[in-house]
Amino acid sequence: MPARFVTAGSTPPLPPRLVDLGVAHVPLLSALHGACFEAGWRPQTFLDLMQAGGVFGFLALDWRERPLGFALCRITVGEGEILTLGVLREARQRGVGKLLLSGVCARLAVLGGHVLFLEVAESNKPATSLYASFGFQQVGKRKDYYAHLDGSREAALVMRRDLLG
Ligand SMILES: CC(C)(COP(=O)(O)OP(=O)(O)OC[C@H]1O[C@@H](n2cnc3c(N)ncnc32)[C@H](O)[C@@H]1OP(=O)(O)O)[C@@H](O)C(=O)NCCC(=O)NCCS
Repeated sequence: MPARFVTAGSTPPLPPRLVDLGVAHVPLLSALHGACFEAGWRPQTFLDLMQAGGVFGFLALDWRERPLGFALCRITVGEGEILTLGVLREARQRGVGKLLLSGVCARLAVLGGHVLFLEVAESNKPATSLYASFGFQQVGKRKDYYAHLDGSREAALVMRRDLLG
């Protein structure tokens, strides 16, 4: 289902759209990441990633150009990896996550990618459901991969989706 946003009044609702991420988005990206995750990444982390080869991503914007979410991906010899993906709390469950994933898959295909991998915390039901609904399958599990702020650790599920065929 396409991402949908209902607006008040008589203005016709326009669907969210994706724009390519560039280094100018780094401060915004870091702020969005901090709003979506327990431990946000510093701007320098995003800058380093985005200046490395094969890294691309998207920002999802609403009809008023307000940011809703982001996805960052890396492609290495035909294999894509989602580095991070998040949607602001108030914009969730309206198809923005799926829109971002669609954008990542379409761009990867253009770049010659044939498979997409990601890691997700085992207990992250919204994300594992999103990825399963998008055709990802679990292909591995990394014990104690994530460290939570309270000191506990959690496994990462490794998921994969083929892009060809
Ligand atoms: C995971 C996340 C990106 C989903 O974004 P979203 O915009 O809400 O996702 P969508 O609206 O596109 O949902 C697509 C599918 O995901 C699943 N899903 C999304 N939120 C869900 C929830 N809270 N519970 C169960 N399933 C959920 C559903 O299958 C849904 O399909 P449906 O609407 O047809 O039922 C968002 O919850 C988020 O940013 N979480 C915090 C950051 C994070 O965990 N990122 C992923 C790290 S790997």
